[in-house]
Amino acid sequence: MTDTTIHLGSTVQGGTIAPEFRFRRLRRSNTLRQLMRDTTLSVDDFILPIFVEEGIKEPVAITSMPNVFRYPESQLGGVVQRAWNLGIKAVVLFGVSHHKDDCGSDTWSDDGLMARMIRIAKAAQPQMLVISDNCFCEYTDHGHCGVVDMHEGDVDNDATLINLQQQVLTAAAAGVDMIAPSGMMDGMILAIRQALDENGFAHIPVMSYSTKFASAFYGPFRDAVDSSFKGSRNTYQMDPCNGREALAESMQDEMEGADILMVKPGLAYLDIIAEIRANSSRPLAVYHVSGEYAMIKAGAAAGVIDEKAVVLETMTAFKRAGCNLIITYYAEQLAQWLKP
Ligand code: PBG
Repeated sequence: MTDTTIHLGSTVQGGTIAPEFRFRRLRRSNTLRQLMRDTTLSVDDFILPIFVEEGIKEPVAITSMPNVFRYPESQLGGVVQRAWNLGIKAVVLFGVSHHKDDCGSDTWSDDGLMARMIRIAKAAQPQMLVISDNCFCEYTDHGHCGVVDMHEGDVDNDATLINLQQQVLTAAAAGVDMIAPSGMMDGMILAIRQALDENGFAHIPVMSYSTKFASAFYGPFRDAVDSSFKGSRNTYQMDPCNGREALAESMQDEMEGADILMVKPGLAYLDIIAEIRANSSRPLAVYHVSGEYAMIKAGAAAGVIDEKAVVLETMTAFKRAGCNLIITYYAEQLAQWLKP
């Protein structure tokens, strides 16, 4: 009897390949490849961000983000229903305010833009999971994500937390399904959880922007929300250089009671996603941000990449790295591409 292992190996040019290393056996046909996949995409993975601007009558195109619009309030219900019809089950609402002040007080007014958006979205499709982006930067005249301390010239963490508690209670009273604080204040989850729990909203989950970097990839978003903000958020958002701190930020939010953790932006931070996944059993979200979207659109428009293939590969990478949920401006397009 011959030893096939030795015989086969010895006939391969350029060295020996043991039979157990022949990975290509499971790649031979499309059927095999489909059966072997450990990462798959579904419309249930995606959350659609929606921009709503006060006082406009028609949608306004966002130049740097083709196919993304700021919608008038009168069209928000239609946009929510359109997403629902495509199979999308969650939206996150961003307001473009025309009632700005130094602390963003419009966000905790029952008649303010945030409360109105939530009521409109819930009324249009009660089954849609409506998430509010809970921050102040779109509602403050200086554009910072909280109250600015005149002497320090910096955002006052604890004063901002008190306002944030009022804001989330207003959102909860308006019927929001999930709170998503994005301001990167220390202690924000604890403050929110306390406010909700003490006021009859213990059932409302919090998805924390738990590890959010001070990123150049947010560029087009500033366009999207018409922000005149020229400063930096380096004193509250994270330094992209720091990996250990990135993990600690998310672990801290988990301890404070965050139901879902998040990494933002996405593609440049897959290492952070994988590390949080390895250290937490909470659901994990990623925000595929405006700059990431704009780069793919620009590359496709220049004819240098295949848009659909690149988007599907990017989303697959997020899930492979450990994400359960993906917030992306491609959500509607993905729902169409993934239709069986
Ligand atoms: C505001 C906020 C930002 C984004 C979401 N919420 C911008 C920022 O922090 O400067 C970015 C979203 C995107 O770029 O798509 N807190």
